[in-house]
Amino acid sequence: MQWKTLALALLAKHVSGQGSVPIPPMLRFECSQLVVERLDPLVNPGLVPSPHLHQIVGGNSFNASMEHPTHDLPSASTCTSCTFSEDFSNYWTAVLYFRARNGTFKRVPQFVSDGLKGTGGITVYYIPSTTNKTAVTAFKPGFRMLVGDAASTSKGPDRKVCHRCMPKSGDASNINCGSPDTQELPKAFCEGGIRTVITFPTCWDGKNLDSPDHTSHVAYATGSKANDVGPTGSCPASHPVIIPQVMYEVMWDTRPFNDKNLWPADGSQPFVWSTGDPHGYSQHGDYVFGWKDDSLQRAMDARCTGDVCNVLKSQTAEQAMNCTLPRVVDEDIDSCKSHPSNSGEVLRARLG
Ligand SMILES: *[C@@H]1O[C@H](CO)[C@@H](O)[C@H](O)[C@H]1NC(C)=O
Ligand SMILES: *[C@@H]1O[C@H](CO)[C@@H](O)[C@H](O)[C@H]1NC(C)=O
Ligand SMILES: *[C@@H]1O[C@H](CO)[C@@H](O)[C@H](O)[C@H]1NC(C)=O
Ligand SMILES: *[C@@H]1O[C@H](CO)[C@@H](O)[C@H](O)[C@H]1NC(C)=O
Repeated sequence: MQWKTLALALLAKHVSGQGSVPIPPMLRFECSQLVVERLDPLVNPGLVPSPHLHQIVGGNSFNASMEHPTHDLPSASTCTSCTFSEDFSNYWTAVLYFRARNGTFKRVPQFVSDGLKGTGGITVYYIPSTTNKTAVTAFKPGFRMLVGDAASTSKGPDRKVCHRCMPKSGDASNINCGSPDTQELPKAFCEGGIRTVITFPTCWDGKNLDSPDHTSHVAYATGSKANDVGPTGSCPASHPVIIPQVMYEVMWDTRPFNDKNLWPADGSQPFVWSTGDPHGYSQHGDYVFGWKDDSLQRAMDARCTGDVCNVLKSQTAEQAMNCTLPRVVDEDIDSCKSHPSNSGEVLRARLG
């Protein structure tokens, strides 16, 4: 299985020189596309349409409002697009577009990471502490958080949101946004597409399920291990509770656009986030916790690895792919030609 190679390689990178190399425990599983939709119940609750398009996975109770903290994802959902059938959480990010020379936009298709099955969507990781077996506290019902800034036009915090220009096949190396990953979108053809990784904080204030900016109730760890995979750094006194490290991996199939005749004549790169950002700084990840009962805590305590976990209920890839939602906002999400509020028009307005 490919993820083992990947996990081994990344651990080897972090503990090289320490002898044996165990596979670090980490849930790593596929969540197929639930819907690609212009809604954002975290940042713009109730706003239809939201300012930009997202690709969303997880439980099918996702909707424009999802009132906090009363919207109960496990009871309001009837299915999930994720492998583990007790996970009704919602996960979403921005969407990538290709800007053609004539100024039109095409949505970049998504594909599924190595070793997993499904349709588009997001590979989700939950990583317990690699050093302290009892340390992580799973999220509480109503918990939400956000990484990245959709309005960002310059570099953000290091190693939180990044892109990798993927080689033709595989890539058994680090997933912690270290080199060769960049905050900018890659500037050349990527033979294996573009991977974006979004890494959430691992320290919680222990009290607030959310905060006005959706980030200040959580904090990144500090210290020499802060950039290692998993909740391995030290938590600040203000945010003492160690939470699982949530990480998203999203694969964009830019291969159909690897053609000199399609790229801008000046050689600049043609990809643009649905936020209107042609640099790459505005990619972001939203998280609304929705695991049923104590299922996530059980999986963390059992230190399950990959997408097989005997303390969790699973479903087949076909069942997960079957869980989809119709779009609420009626627009052509694949190209910019049909609707005045669609992505192409918004992008065009921002890019001038
Ligand atoms: C969103 O879901 C909640 C809970 O299921 C429901 O009460 C509400 O009506 C839904 N809102 C929309 C806009 O569909
Ligand atoms: C613009 O260019 C794209 C890519 O070359 C092409 O698919 C599309 O048909 C063109 N649209 C118009 C209106 O010329
Ligand atoms: C592991 O984490 C638990 C819970 O946070 C803590 O009480 C304990 O002291 C930690 N053990 C070590 C060796 O750090
Ligand atoms: C997919 O959904 C359809 C309609 O609800 C249902 O009839 C079918 O059995 C489902 N297939 C799987 C594999 O769950």
